[in-house]
This record gives sequence, C-alpha cells and structure tokens, in this order.
Amino acid sequence: MPQHKISADSPIGIFDSGVGGLTVVKAVQACLPSERIIYFGDTARVPYGPKSQVTIRKYAREDTELLMKHQPKMIIVACNTVSALALDVVQQTSGDIPVIGVLKAGAELAARQSRSGRIGVIGTQATIHSNAYACAINELDPNLEVFSKACPLFVPLAEEGFIDHPATRLVAGEYLSELLTSKIDTLVLGCTHYPILRGMIESISGAGVNIIDSAEAVASKAKYLLASEGMLNPGTGQAMPHLMVSDLPQKFRELYRLFMGTEMPDVELVGM
Ligand code: DGL
Repeated sequence: MPQHKISADSPIGIFDSGVGGLTVVKAVQACLPSERIIYFGDTARVPYGPKSQVTIRKYAREDTELLMKHQPKMIIVACNTVSALALDVVQQTSGDIPVIGVLKAGAELAARQSRSGRIGVIGTQATIHSNAYACAINELDPNLEVFSKACPLFVPLAEEGFIDHPATRLVAGEYLSELLTSKIDTLVLGCTHYPILRGMIESISGAGVNIIDSAEAVASKAKYLLASEGMLNPGTGQAMPHLMVSDLPQKFRELYRLFMGTEMPDVELVGM
C-alpha cells in the first residue's frame, strides 16, 4: 500500500458490514465533534456474522482498500465480526496508520469495570465462535471469567425497528437467561446493532449488570490515540459524515433515522 499524506485534518475512516456501524459514528461524533468521518457500510454483503473466516477476511481487505482511497488518518473497525476475525488484515491493508477495532476497546472497558470478575459477552455467531472477546479479556486478566452467547436474531430485530417489541423481549429473555444464571456483573454488547436494543437488554438483565457499549469504548480510545499523536482536528465546526454504501441506499436512509435519530446526509453508492 503506497504511503499517503495525512494531517490532523484528514478524515477518520469507519467501516462496518452495514448500517450497524452508525452506532460507532454516533459515539465518535459525540466524543470528537470536530473530526471529519468517512463511513462505509457494506450493505450489499451484510450480514458478515454467519459467514466463514475466509470470506470475512476478504471483505475486510476490500472494505479497507475502499476507505484508503480517501486517505484517512485512522481506521476504526466498527464491525465486531471483522474486529474478531480480520483486524490484522485491516492493519496490513492500511499501511502504517492506526487501526482500532471495537472488540479490544470493549474488552478493555469490561475488564476494567467488572467487580465480580464474571463478564458476559453477546455477539454474532462468528464473533462468539472465534472466542476473540474471551481471549482479549483474558489477555488483560486471566482471572476474569467470560460467559459468551451468540444472539443472531438481534440483528434483524434491530433492523426491523423492534426496539420495544414483545418479540424482542421474548428473544432477549431466551438469549440472556443463561448468562444471567452465571451471575455476570458486566455485559459487553459485542455487535454493532445491539446498542439499539440496549434499553430492552438492560431491562432484562437488571440494575446489577453493567452494560458495556463497545461503540462508546472505541470512540474514547480513538480520542486518546489521536490526542497522544497530536492528530486531533483543530477545527471547531461539526461536519456531516461522508457516507458510502454498496447497495440499497434507500433502505440505509430509513435505518439511519433509527440509528442516529436525525435525518441522513447524502449517501454515495459504491461498487464492490
Ligand atoms: N456488524 C456486525 C457485527 O458487529 C453485525 C452484523 C453482521 O452480521 O454483519 O458483528
């Protein structure tokens, strides 16, 4: 990958398998309002969660190549599935700019905040089967116990807008029961879509369980990293994110409202 000229004014590149990474865009905007953001949602190939490692790694490389055309100063991998299975591919493809993934940021926050040392993690099948969250948490502290559960139905429920719906309550109750029996005190939302269902997840897990939103965790990490490298954008205005999708921009528009709570700026359709 040829080196490119980056400055504090260069954008932060963020990508996800689809619309879910907007939870990360929102968190980054809240934490770093002056930064320019370029976002790619691979809506033609979503979901990544049920796919093989080989496919996920191929997609991760192509998504990174697309973002690199916009000369970002940092890449944030908003997709937990890519963070779990292909962060090294993103790093190799992006040369020497910093790459941070939601997974490590979420794992660090969970390890720091758990009091009982019993941490629950929920995510897609690929993320949970990779065991990457458990490995990242145990690398920080081998005494922490991690209880994981794949919750594949949460992604379509979030995309359907079933935020406070009885179907979601039923599914969430089923998915979370095992983790709650294991007496976790911390629960990592290890998938981009789950912050949308946070209220429901919180109401089922109860006040004794601290919810970790990897989106917020990765945004604070990005801020810390850019500040330590003197790469924070000195501007004061808030720019609209530059949005790109690989299919169905109209559907993306509808979901944008749900994820961001505001109207969507223009979206560019790109071929993959
Ligand atoms: N973005 C994915 C993640 O965070 C969820 C959707 C998908 O399966 O692609 O794991």
